Amino acid sequence: MLMRYIETKSKCYPLYLGEEGLAALRSVYQQLQPTPSAVLVISDSSIAPLYMKQVTEALTSADVHTYVIPSGEKEKSFENYYAIQTYALEKGMDRRSVIIALGGGVIGDLAGFVAATFMRGIRFIQMPTTLLAHDSAVGGKVGINHPIGKNMIGAFYQPEAVIYHIPFLYTLPQEEWRSGYAEVIKHGVIGDAHLYDWLQKEILSLEDLRGEKLQYALQQAIAVKAKVVAADETESSVRAYLNFGHTLGHAIEAELGYGRLTHGDAVAMGMRFALLLSERIYDVDLASVAFAKWLFGYGYPKLPMELNIERLLLRMKQDKKAQSGEIRMVLLRGIADVCVEEVQDKVVLDALAQFIQTENL
Ligand SMILES: NC(=O)c1ccc[n+]([C@@H]2O[C@H](COP(=O)([O-])OP(=O)(O)OC[C@H]3O[C@@H](n4cnc5c(N)ncnc54)[C@H](O)[C@@H]3O)[C@@H](O)[C@H]2O)c1
Ligand SMILES: [Zn+2]
Repeated sequence: MLMRYIETKSKCYPLYLGEEGLAALRSVYQQLQPTPSAVLVISDSSIAPLYMKQVTEALTSADVHTYVIPSGEKEKSFENYYAIQTYALEKGMDRRSVIIALGGGVIGDLAGFVAATFMRGIRFIQMPTTLLAHDSAVGGKVGINHPIGKNMIGAFYQPEAVIYHIPFLYTLPQEEWRSGYAEVIKHGVIGDAHLYDWLQKEILSLEDLRGEKLQYALQQAIAVKAKVVAADETESSVRAYLNFGHTLGHAIEAELGYGRLTHGDAVAMGMRFALLLSERIYDVDLASVAFAKWLFGYGYPKLPMELNIERLLLRMKQDKKAQSGEIRMVLLRGIADVCVEEVQDKVVLDALAQFIQTENL
């Protein structure tokens, strides 16, 4: 069982990762001070039937409540946020109560935001069940979507602990492995050249993400994320590096309508584009063609031909990270050598035109 600390300016908390996550949950929960008055485990309808019982059995509290929402990105909504608050109030939960987020990024973000705001903030524990959630469960960004935009309402709010019980991951569908793996690759590219090489050598297909290799990949990717949030908890500087691949990725997700592609498939497209644009802007060789080939080998889809590049550009400009109307892109001068640049519309458009062509050669 691996244990490390996530250190941010506002809080330092442990992250457990391994085959014995449930035992870690039991002991973390028992040691909470003050003793929880009640606990609410929030999960979704795909995860709860598989794992809710094992989790509630690990909690030795008189008052164990559960709340299950349907699975899917559209459930990260104000309606569910409000319904959970109502439920917690009806159950008499108070400031000494605790929330456990049992699920992927949707549950982690939603349950974390409930915890951040219920009675001005109560303790919560992240129990990630997806590969992607190595990213979302670490660093304290919590929130919900608004019909006008994704993640538009939220907070920075750190958990008491993050507990990865690896056996939970083994029921993930193939496309969710691929989705989460895109963020593992991202962490290698932006922060750990050794991890990046290791992934290329050791993870020949998504099925290699099992056992010790899975644990190593998770551990190293989390280390990159942890280092970034330790340096910049609230995204005033280097935390923006984590958006590598996301400016175009989010634009694609929004253009196609949420749910058409997984987040990771869209981010993989965004990363391929960011590599190509970096090569153009800095006149460096980042082996963007080999990178794309490597990703396609895992089954990442190509950029859909139906996408219109002018519309994508508009979406990229609406990104909440955009400042003064310029598109801000996270680019690379090399592996683990990141820069944030404001890029002119025309430069982005030209590169997009080239990108859409090379993707579909
Ligand atoms: N807070 C952050 O810093 C941050 C970072 C990255 C992403 N996110 C957010 O994370 C969300 C995406 O997270 P996600 O990809 O984990 O999506 P998700 O939570 O929707 O999970 C993906 C799917 O897998 C199912 N599932 C989850 N665990 C399972 C398991 N163990 N076995 C079988 N099925 C399982 C879920 O029911 C769901 O259908 C997005 O909303 C994104 O905005 C947040
Ligand atoms: Zn992401």
